Amino acid sequence: MRDDNFLNENNAKHVWHPMANAAEMRANPPKIIQGAEGVHITDLDGNRVLDAVGGLWNVNLGYSSEPVKQAIFNQMADLPYYSTFRGTTNGPMIELSYELAQFFKPEGLTRAFFTSGGSDSVETALRLARQYHKIKGQPERTKYVALKKGYHGTHVGGASVNGNSNFRRAYEPMLPGVIHLPAPWDYRNPYGITDGAEIARKIAADFEDEIAFQGADTIAAFIMEPVLGAGGVIVPHETFMPLMRAICDKHGILLIADEVITAFGRTGAWNGSRLWGTQPDLMCTAKAITNGYFPFGAVMIHEKLTEAFESSRSPLATISHGYTYSGHPVGAAAALACLSEMKRLDLAGNAGARGAELLAGLHALKAKHPLIGDARGKGLMCAVELVTDHTTKAAPAKDVVQKVQDGAYAEGVMMRTSGANIIMSPPLIVTAADVQKILSALDAGLKEASK
Ligand SMILES: Cc1ncc(COP(=O)(O)O)c(C=O)c1O
Repeated sequence: MRDDNFLNENNAKHVWHPMANAAEMRANPPKIIQGAEGVHITDLDGNRVLDAVGGLWNVNLGYSSEPVKQAIFNQMADLPYYSTFRGTTNGPMIELSYELAQFFKPEGLTRAFFTSGGSDSVETALRLARQYHKIKGQPERTKYVALKKGYHGTHVGGASVNGNSNFRRAYEPMLPGVIHLPAPWDYRNPYGITDGAEIARKIAADFEDEIAFQGADTIAAFIMEPVLGAGGVIVPHETFMPLMRAICDKHGILLIADEVITAFGRTGAWNGSRLWGTQPDLMCTAKAITNGYFPFGAVMIHEKLTEAFESSRSPLATISHGYTYSGHPVGAAAALACLSEMKRLDLAGNAGARGAELLAGLHALKAKHPLIGDARGKGLMCAVELVTDHTTKAAPAKDVVQKVQDGAYAEGVMMRTSGANIIMSPPLIVTAADVQKILSALDAGLKEASK
Protein backbone atom coordinates (compact mmCIF):
# COMPACT_ATOMS: atom_id res chain seq x y z
CA MET A 1 0.00 0.00 0.00
CA ARG A 2 1.10 3.59 -0.63
CA ASP A 3 2.36 5.65 2.30
CA ASP A 4 0.28 7.59 4.82
CA ASN A 5 0.80 10.94 3.08
CA PHE A 6 -0.65 9.54 -0.13
CA LEU A 7 -3.68 8.20 1.74
CA ASN A 8 -4.27 11.51 3.53
CA GLU A 9 -3.85 13.57 0.37
CA ASN A 10 -6.24 11.43 -1.64
CA ASN A 11 -8.77 10.68 1.08
CA ALA A 12 -12.31 11.19 -0.31
CA LYS A 13 -10.92 12.91 -3.41
CA HIS A 14 -11.69 10.25 -6.02
CA VAL A 15 -14.52 8.39 -4.34
CA TRP A 16 -18.07 9.14 -3.27
CA HIS A 17 -18.83 7.69 0.14
CA PRO A 18 -22.12 5.89 0.81
CA MET A 19 -24.60 7.72 3.05
CA ALA A 20 -22.47 10.88 3.01
CA ASN A 21 -22.41 14.31 1.42
CA ALA A 22 -19.57 14.45 -1.10
CA ALA A 23 -18.79 18.14 -0.45
CA GLU A 24 -18.72 17.49 3.30
CA MET A 25 -16.44 14.48 2.83
CA ARG A 26 -14.01 16.53 0.76
CA ALA A 27 -14.00 19.30 3.37
CA ASN A 28 -13.77 16.94 6.35
CA PRO A 29 -12.28 13.66 5.14
CA PRO A 30 -13.29 10.53 7.04
CA LYS A 31 -11.04 8.67 9.49
CA ILE A 32 -8.85 6.12 7.76
CA ILE A 33 -9.15 2.79 9.56
CA GLN A 34 -5.99 0.78 9.17
CA GLY A 35 -6.33 -2.25 11.37
CA ALA A 36 -8.51 -4.15 13.80
CA GLU A 37 -8.10 -6.75 16.50
CA GLY A 38 -10.66 -8.27 18.87
CA VAL A 39 -13.18 -5.50 19.52
CA HIS A 40 -10.77 -2.67 18.69
CA ILE A 41 -9.99 -0.71 15.54
CA THR A 42 -6.92 1.42 14.84
CA ASP A 43 -6.87 4.54 12.70
CA LEU A 44 -4.07 5.94 10.54
CA ASP A 45 -2.91 8.21 13.36
CA GLY A 46 -2.41 5.19 15.59
CA ASN A 47 -5.47 5.71 17.80
CA ARG A 48 -6.74 2.34 19.01
CA VAL A 49 -10.39 2.51 20.04
CA LEU A 50 -13.11 0.10 21.10
CA ASP A 51 -15.53 -0.27 18.21
CA ALA A 52 -18.97 0.30 19.72
CA VAL A 53 -20.40 0.35 16.19
CA GLY A 54 -19.43 -3.26 15.52
CA GLY A 55 -18.38 -2.39 11.95
CA LEU A 56 -21.96 -1.61 10.96
CA TRP A 57 -24.00 -3.82 13.32
CA ASN A 58 -22.31 -6.80 11.68
CA VAL A 59 -18.93 -7.73 13.19
CA ASN A 60 -20.59 -9.76 15.93
CA LEU A 61 -17.58 -12.03 16.50
CA GLY A 62 -15.11 -9.16 16.50
CA TYR A 63 -12.18 -8.71 14.16
CA SER A 64 -10.06 -11.69 15.13
CA SER A 65 -12.24 -14.69 14.41
CA GLU A 66 -9.58 -17.07 13.14
CA PRO A 67 -11.98 -19.93 12.24
CA VAL A 68 -13.90 -17.57 9.94
CA LYS A 69 -10.74 -16.14 8.37
CA GLN A 70 -9.37 -19.65 7.89
CA ALA A 71 -12.62 -20.86 6.29
CA ILE A 72 -12.45 -17.95 3.82
CA PHE A 73 -8.79 -18.62 3.09
CA ASN A 74 -9.33 -22.35 2.55
CA GLN A 75 -12.37 -21.86 0.34
CA MET A 76 -10.48 -19.28 -1.75
CA ALA A 77 -7.90 -21.98 -2.41
CA ASP A 78 -10.41 -24.76 -3.17
CA LEU A 79 -13.10 -22.97 -5.20
CA PRO A 80 -13.02 -19.15 -5.20
CA TYR A 81 -16.17 -18.83 -7.32
CA TYR A 82 -18.66 -20.63 -9.44
CA SER A 83 -22.17 -19.70 -10.56
CA THR A 84 -25.17 -21.23 -8.80
CA PHE A 85 -27.66 -20.39 -11.53
CA ARG A 86 -29.54 -23.50 -12.64
CA GLY A 87 -27.25 -26.38 -13.46
CA THR A 88 -24.42 -25.88 -10.96
CA THR A 89 -23.97 -25.50 -7.22
CA ASN A 90 -21.21 -25.88 -4.64
CA GLY A 91 -20.57 -27.77 -1.43
CA PRO A 92 -20.54 -24.86 1.06
CA MET A 93 -23.85 -23.57 -0.32
CA ILE A 94 -25.51 -26.97 0.12
CA GLU A 95 -24.11 -27.37 3.62
CA LEU A 96 -25.08 -23.82 4.62
CA SER A 97 -28.68 -24.26 3.42
CA TYR A 98 -28.89 -27.40 5.60
CA GLU A 99 -27.41 -25.65 8.65
CA LEU A 100 -29.65 -22.60 8.28
CA ALA A 101 -32.73 -24.80 8.03
CA GLN A 102 -31.69 -26.33 11.39
CA PHE A 103 -30.88 -22.94 12.91
CA PHE A 104 -34.25 -21.42 11.90
CA LYS A 105 -36.35 -24.57 12.53
CA PRO A 106 -38.25 -22.97 15.46
CA GLU A 107 -39.39 -20.26 13.02
CA GLY A 108 -40.48 -22.86 10.42
CA LEU A 109 -38.01 -21.35 7.92
CA THR A 110 -36.87 -24.32 5.89
CA ARG A 111 -35.52 -22.89 2.63
CA ALA A 112 -32.79 -20.35 1.91
CA PHE A 113 -32.23 -18.00 -1.02
CA PHE A 114 -28.76 -16.50 -1.02
CA THR A 115 -27.88 -12.88 -1.77
CA SER A 116 -24.94 -10.48 -1.62
CA GLY A 117 -26.18 -8.37 1.30
CA GLY A 118 -29.09 -6.82 3.14
CA SER A 119 -30.57 -4.69 0.37
CA ASP A 120 -30.49 -7.70 -1.93
CA SER A 121 -32.24 -9.78 0.72
CA VAL A 122 -35.01 -7.20 1.10
CA GLU A 123 -35.46 -6.96 -2.67
CA THR A 124 -35.62 -10.74 -2.88
CA ALA A 125 -38.26 -11.01 -0.15
CA LEU A 126 -40.42 -8.26 -1.66
CA ARG A 127 -40.31 -9.96 -5.06
CA LEU A 128 -40.91 -13.49 -3.78
CA ALA A 129 -43.94 -12.23 -1.83
CA ARG A 130 -45.57 -10.89 -4.99
CA GLN A 131 -44.65 -14.02 -6.91
CA TYR A 132 -46.14 -16.26 -4.22
CA HIS A 133 -49.53 -14.58 -4.57
CA LYS A 134 -49.37 -14.79 -8.36
CA ILE A 135 -48.69 -18.53 -8.18
CA LYS A 136 -51.59 -18.84 -5.74
CA GLY A 137 -53.91 -17.12 -8.23
CA GLN A 138 -54.06 -13.70 -6.52
CA PRO A 139 -52.12 -11.50 -8.98
CA GLU A 140 -53.62 -8.28 -7.62
CA ARG A 141 -51.79 -8.68 -4.33
CA THR A 142 -48.92 -6.33 -5.17
CA LYS A 143 -48.92 -3.64 -2.44
CA TYR A 144 -46.65 -3.47 0.57
CA VAL A 145 -47.28 -2.13 4.05
CA ALA A 146 -44.32 -0.92 6.11
CA LEU A 147 -43.45 1.13 9.19
CA LYS A 148 -42.35 4.74 9.39
CA LYS A 149 -38.77 4.88 10.74
CA GLY A 150 -38.11 1.42 9.27
CA TYR A 151 -34.89 0.92 7.31
CA HIS A 152 -34.80 -1.66 4.55
CA GLY A 153 -31.73 -0.85 2.48
CA THR A 154 -31.31 1.17 -0.63
CA HIS A 155 -32.65 -0.68 -3.66
CA VAL A 156 -35.74 0.93 -5.18
CA GLY A 157 -38.04 -1.66 -3.56
CA GLY A 158 -36.29 -1.37 -0.21
CA ALA A 159 -36.22 2.43 -0.31
CA SER A 160 -39.94 2.42 -1.15
CA VAL A 161 -40.80 0.52 2.01
CA ASN A 162 -38.21 2.56 3.93
CA GLY A 163 -39.78 4.85 6.50
CA ASN A 164 -37.33 7.75 6.62
CA SER A 165 -37.57 10.60 4.13
CA ASN A 166 -33.78 11.12 4.20
CA PHE A 167 -33.38 7.94 2.21
CA ARG A 168 -36.25 8.67 -0.18
CA ARG A 169 -36.52 12.32 -1.18
CA ALA A 170 -33.58 12.54 -3.57
CA TYR A 171 -34.66 9.36 -5.33
CA GLU A 172 -38.42 9.81 -5.60
CA PRO A 173 -40.77 8.80 -7.07
CA MET A 174 -40.73 5.51 -5.22
CA LEU A 175 -42.74 2.37 -6.06
CA PRO A 176 -46.47 2.99 -6.08
CA GLY A 177 -48.66 0.96 -3.76
CA VAL A 178 -46.67 1.27 -0.53
CA ILE A 179 -48.45 2.26 2.68
CA HIS A 180 -46.67 3.31 5.86
CA LEU A 181 -48.00 2.87 9.40
CA PRO A 182 -46.65 4.79 12.43
CA ALA A 183 -43.59 3.37 14.17
CA PRO A 184 -44.24 1.41 17.41
CA TRP A 185 -42.38 4.03 19.40
CA ASP A 186 -43.23 5.14 22.91
CA TYR A 187 -41.01 8.27 22.84
CA ARG A 188 -42.51 9.83 19.73
CA ASN A 189 -45.77 8.80 18.07
CA PRO A 190 -48.75 10.53 16.49
CA TYR A 191 -51.14 9.27 19.20
CA GLY A 192 -49.62 11.36 21.97
CA ILE A 193 -49.36 8.36 24.33
CA THR A 194 -46.50 6.48 25.96
CA ASP A 195 -47.99 3.08 26.81
CA GLY A 196 -46.35 0.55 24.47
CA ALA A 197 -49.24 -1.93 24.50
CA GLU A 198 -51.72 0.84 23.72
CA ILE A 199 -49.51 2.13 20.89
CA ALA A 200 -49.37 -1.41 19.48
CA ARG A 201 -53.19 -1.63 19.58
CA LYS A 202 -53.55 1.74 17.86
CA ILE A 203 -51.17 0.78 15.04
CA ALA A 204 -53.01 -2.54 14.68
CA ALA A 205 -56.28 -0.62 14.34
CA ASP A 206 -54.69 1.65 11.72
CA PHE A 207 -53.45 -1.45 9.87
CA GLU A 208 -56.96 -2.95 9.85
CA ASP A 209 -58.40 0.36 8.70
CA GLU A 210 -55.88 0.60 5.86
CA ILE A 211 -56.55 -3.00 4.81
CA ALA A 212 -60.27 -2.28 4.64
CA PHE A 213 -59.57 0.84 2.56
CA GLN A 214 -57.06 -0.75 0.16
CA GLY A 215 -58.71 -4.16 -0.07
CA ALA A 216 -56.90 -7.08 1.55
CA ASP A 217 -56.71 -8.77 -1.84
CA THR A 218 -54.41 -5.99 -3.12
CA ILE A 219 -51.76 -6.34 -0.38
CA ALA A 220 -48.82 -8.71 -0.84
CA ALA A 221 -46.84 -8.24 2.35
CA PHE A 222 -46.18 -6.31 5.53
CA ILE A 223 -42.48 -5.72 6.29
CA MET A 224 -40.95 -4.80 9.66
CA GLU A 225 -37.73 -5.01 11.61
CA PRO A 226 -38.35 -6.80 14.95
CA VAL A 227 -36.31 -4.01 16.55
CA LEU A 228 -36.01 -0.98 14.28
CA GLY A 229 -32.30 -0.31 13.89
CA ALA A 230 -31.15 2.53 11.67
CA GLY A 231 -34.34 4.48 12.47
CA GLY A 232 -32.89 5.02 15.95
CA VAL A 233 -33.16 1.66 17.77
CA ILE A 234 -36.90 1.60 18.34
CA VAL A 235 -38.00 -1.36 20.47
CA PRO A 236 -41.66 -2.25 19.89
CA HIS A 237 -43.83 -3.49 22.74
CA GLU A 238 -43.73 -7.28 23.02
CA THR A 239 -47.32 -7.49 21.79
CA PHE A 240 -46.64 -5.59 18.57
CA MET A 241 -45.17 -8.20 16.24
CA PRO A 242 -47.62 -10.94 17.33
CA LEU A 243 -50.50 -8.50 16.71
CA MET A 244 -49.20 -7.72 13.23
CA ARG A 245 -48.73 -11.45 12.59
CA ALA A 246 -52.37 -12.12 13.54
CA ILE A 247 -53.66 -9.37 11.25
CA CYS A 248 -51.52 -10.62 8.36
CA ASP A 249 -52.88 -14.16 8.89
CA LYS A 250 -56.46 -12.93 9.02
CA HIS A 251 -56.10 -11.20 5.64
CA GLY A 252 -53.73 -13.51 3.75
CA ILE A 253 -50.90 -10.95 3.87
CA LEU A 254 -47.33 -12.26 4.11
CA LEU A 255 -45.15 -11.08 6.98
CA ILE A 256 -41.57 -10.20 6.03
CA ALA A 257 -39.22 -9.88 9.00
CA ASP A 258 -36.25 -7.73 8.03
CA GLU A 259 -33.64 -9.25 10.32
CA VAL A 260 -30.55 -7.96 8.56
CA ILE A 261 -29.42 -6.67 11.98
CA THR A 262 -31.31 -8.94 14.36
CA ALA A 263 -31.03 -12.43 12.81
CA PHE A 264 -27.99 -13.77 14.64
CA GLY A 265 -28.20 -12.89 18.31
CA ARG A 266 -27.92 -9.12 18.52
CA THR A 267 -31.13 -8.59 20.52
CA GLY A 268 -30.22 -11.27 23.06
CA ALA A 269 -32.43 -13.82 21.30
CA TRP A 270 -31.09 -15.82 18.35
CA ASN A 271 -33.35 -13.82 16.07
CA GLY A 272 -35.88 -11.02 16.44
CA SER A 273 -38.88 -13.08 15.38
CA ARG A 274 -38.06 -15.59 18.12
CA LEU A 275 -37.65 -12.70 20.57
CA TRP A 276 -41.30 -11.79 20.01
CA GLY A 277 -42.55 -15.38 19.65
CA THR A 278 -43.57 -15.08 15.99
CA GLN A 279 -42.92 -16.92 12.75
CA PRO A 280 -42.43 -14.71 9.70
CA ASP A 281 -43.19 -15.95 6.18
CA LEU A 282 -39.93 -14.53 4.86
CA MET A 283 -36.90 -13.42 6.84
CA CYS A 284 -34.18 -11.16 5.42
CA THR A 285 -30.71 -11.77 6.82
CA ALA A 286 -27.18 -10.55 5.95
CA LYS A 287 -24.49 -8.69 7.93
CA ALA A 288 -23.45 -10.98 10.83
CA ILE A 289 -24.08 -14.10 8.74
CA THR A 290 -20.46 -13.66 7.62
CA ASN A 291 -19.39 -11.36 10.47
CA GLY A 292 -18.87 -8.60 7.90
CA TYR A 293 -15.83 -10.42 6.48
CA PHE A 294 -17.59 -11.23 3.17
CA PRO A 295 -20.63 -9.61 1.48
CA PHE A 296 -23.39 -12.19 1.83
CA GLY A 297 -27.02 -12.61 2.81
CA ALA A 298 -29.84 -15.12 2.95
CA VAL A 299 -33.59 -14.87 2.70
CA MET A 300 -35.17 -17.62 4.78
CA ILE A 301 -38.50 -18.93 3.55
CA HIS A 302 -41.28 -20.45 5.65
CA GLU A 303 -42.44 -23.98 4.88
CA LYS A 304 -45.91 -22.55 4.25
CA LEU A 305 -44.58 -21.07 0.98
CA THR A 306 -42.61 -24.03 -0.26
CA GLU A 307 -45.36 -26.03 -1.90
CA ALA A 308 -46.41 -23.16 -4.17
CA PHE A 309 -42.89 -22.85 -5.57
CA GLU A 310 -41.90 -26.51 -5.51
CA SER A 311 -44.95 -28.20 -6.99
CA SER A 312 -45.08 -26.38 -10.31
CA ARG A 313 -42.69 -26.16 -13.26
CA SER A 314 -44.59 -23.25 -14.81
CA PRO A 315 -42.69 -20.05 -15.73
CA LEU A 316 -44.74 -18.20 -13.12
CA ALA A 317 -43.36 -20.42 -10.37
CA THR A 318 -39.79 -20.22 -11.69
CA ILE A 319 -37.57 -17.94 -9.61
CA SER A 320 -36.45 -15.49 -12.29
CA HIS A 321 -34.42 -13.59 -9.74
CA GLY A 322 -30.90 -14.01 -8.41
CA TYR A 323 -27.45 -12.53 -8.21
CA THR A 324 -24.12 -13.46 -9.77
CA TYR A 325 -22.89 -13.92 -6.21
CA SER A 326 -25.93 -15.82 -4.83
CA GLY A 327 -24.51 -18.77 -2.89
CA HIS A 328 -20.92 -17.60 -3.38
CA PRO A 329 -18.79 -20.49 -2.11
CA VAL A 330 -16.47 -18.22 -0.10
CA GLY A 331 -19.39 -16.40 1.51
CA ALA A 332 -21.11 -19.69 2.28
CA ALA A 333 -17.92 -21.11 3.83
CA ALA A 334 -17.58 -17.94 5.93
CA ALA A 335 -21.22 -18.22 7.03
CA LEU A 336 -20.77 -21.86 8.05
CA ALA A 337 -17.81 -20.93 10.23
CA CYS A 338 -19.72 -17.96 11.68
CA LEU A 339 -22.72 -20.09 12.60
CA SER A 340 -20.51 -22.55 14.39
CA GLU A 341 -18.56 -19.83 16.22
CA MET A 342 -21.61 -17.83 17.26
CA LYS A 343 -23.18 -20.96 18.77
CA ARG A 344 -19.93 -22.05 20.44
CA LEU A 345 -19.52 -18.63 22.06
CA ASP A 346 -23.25 -18.25 22.83
CA LEU A 347 -23.31 -14.79 21.34
CA ALA A 348 -27.03 -14.38 21.97
CA GLY A 349 -26.54 -15.08 25.68
CA ASN A 350 -23.70 -12.58 25.94
CA ALA A 351 -25.64 -9.97 23.95
CA GLY A 352 -28.53 -10.32 26.41
CA ALA A 353 -26.34 -10.04 29.52
CA ARG A 354 -24.03 -7.26 28.26
CA GLY A 355 -26.96 -5.45 26.66
CA ALA A 356 -28.79 -5.29 30.00
CA GLU A 357 -25.67 -3.75 31.58
CA LEU A 358 -25.32 -1.26 28.75
CA LEU A 359 -28.96 -0.20 28.91
CA ALA A 360 -28.85 0.18 32.71
CA GLY A 361 -25.75 2.38 32.28
CA LEU A 362 -27.47 4.48 29.61
CA HIS A 363 -30.42 5.08 31.94
CA ALA A 364 -27.98 6.18 34.65
CA LEU A 365 -26.38 8.60 32.18
CA LYS A 366 -29.83 9.89 31.26
CA ALA A 367 -30.46 10.74 34.91
CA LYS A 368 -27.15 12.64 34.96
CA HIS A 369 -27.17 14.43 31.58
CA PRO A 370 -30.15 16.62 30.59
CA LEU A 371 -28.92 16.32 27.00
CA ILE A 372 -30.29 12.76 26.89
CA GLY A 373 -34.01 12.74 26.17
CA ASP A 374 -34.39 8.99 25.84
CA ALA A 375 -32.29 5.87 26.40
CA ARG A 376 -33.43 2.65 24.77
CA GLY A 377 -32.31 -0.70 23.45
CA LYS A 378 -32.60 -4.45 23.33
CA GLY A 379 -29.57 -6.67 23.73
CA LEU A 380 -26.56 -5.05 22.12
CA MET A 381 -28.45 -2.58 19.99
CA CYS A 382 -28.85 0.57 22.06
CA ALA A 383 -29.22 4.31 21.55
CA VAL A 384 -29.53 7.57 23.38
CA GLU A 385 -31.52 10.34 21.76
CA LEU A 386 -30.29 13.87 22.44
CA VAL A 387 -32.70 16.74 22.99
CA THR A 388 -32.36 20.40 23.96
CA ASP A 389 -35.61 20.35 25.93
CA HIS A 390 -37.43 17.41 27.52
CA THR A 391 -40.88 18.83 26.83
CA THR A 392 -40.51 19.88 23.20
CA LYS A 393 -38.00 17.06 22.50
CA ALA A 394 -36.28 19.38 20.03
CA ALA A 395 -33.08 18.00 18.54
CA PRO A 396 -29.79 19.72 19.33
CA ALA A 397 -27.61 21.25 16.61
CA LYS A 398 -25.52 18.86 14.54
CA ASP A 399 -22.27 20.01 16.11
CA VAL A 400 -23.52 19.05 19.59
CA VAL A 401 -24.09 15.46 18.43
CA GLN A 402 -20.68 15.54 16.74
CA LYS A 403 -19.06 16.71 19.99
CA VAL A 404 -20.44 13.67 21.81
CA GLN A 405 -19.01 11.36 19.17
CA ASP A 406 -15.65 13.16 19.11
CA GLY A 407 -15.48 13.25 22.91
CA ALA A 408 -16.15 9.51 23.12
CA TYR A 409 -13.53 8.82 20.44
CA ALA A 410 -10.97 10.84 22.37
CA GLU A 411 -11.75 8.57 25.34
CA GLY A 412 -11.12 5.49 23.19
CA VAL A 413 -14.56 4.46 21.90
CA MET A 414 -16.03 4.71 18.40
CA MET A 415 -19.78 5.44 18.35
CA ARG A 416 -22.18 6.11 15.53
CA THR A 417 -24.41 9.15 15.17
CA SER A 418 -27.66 9.18 13.25
CA GLY A 419 -29.58 12.45 13.44
CA ALA A 420 -29.86 13.20 17.16
CA ASN A 421 -29.16 9.57 18.11
CA ILE A 422 -25.94 8.08 19.38
CA ILE A 423 -26.14 4.43 18.42
CA MET A 424 -24.20 1.60 20.08
CA SER A 425 -24.00 -1.84 18.52
CA PRO A 426 -20.67 -3.34 19.60
CA PRO A 427 -19.45 -6.83 18.72
CA LEU A 428 -21.40 -9.46 20.69
CA ILE A 429 -18.18 -10.73 22.29
CA VAL A 430 -17.74 -7.58 24.42
CA THR A 431 -16.98 -8.09 28.11
CA ALA A 432 -18.53 -6.35 31.11
CA ALA A 433 -15.37 -4.19 31.27
CA ASP A 434 -15.85 -3.20 27.60
CA VAL A 435 -19.41 -2.12 28.38
CA GLN A 436 -18.18 0.07 31.26
CA LYS A 437 -15.59 1.59 28.92
CA ILE A 438 -18.33 2.45 26.39
CA LEU A 439 -20.37 4.07 29.14
CA SER A 440 -17.52 6.12 30.55
CA ALA A 441 -16.54 7.32 27.07
CA LEU A 442 -20.13 8.35 26.38
CA ASP A 443 -20.20 10.15 29.72
CA ALA A 444 -17.06 12.06 28.68
CA GLY A 445 -18.55 12.87 25.26
CA LEU A 446 -21.74 14.17 26.84
CA LYS A 447 -19.74 16.34 29.27
CA GLU A 448 -17.79 17.77 26.34
CA ALA A 449 -20.99 18.53 24.39
CA SER A 450 -22.69 20.13 27.41
CA LYS A 451 -19.87 22.68 27.96
C1 LIG B 1 -32.80 -3.76 8.67
C2 LIG B 1 -31.92 -3.55 7.49
N1 LIG B 1 -32.32 -3.97 6.29
C3 LIG B 1 -31.55 -3.84 5.19
C4 LIG B 1 -30.31 -3.25 5.27
C5 LIG B 1 -29.47 -3.10 4.04
O1 LIG B 1 -28.36 -3.93 4.11
P1 LIG B 1 -27.08 -3.65 3.18
O2 LIG B 1 -26.52 -2.35 3.62
O3 LIG B 1 -26.18 -4.84 3.46
O4 LIG B 1 -27.54 -3.64 1.77
C6 LIG B 1 -29.84 -2.80 6.50
C7 LIG B 1 -28.53 -2.15 6.63
O5 LIG B 1 -28.17 -1.61 7.64
C8 LIG B 1 -30.67 -2.94 7.64
O6 LIG B 1 -30.29 -2.49 8.85
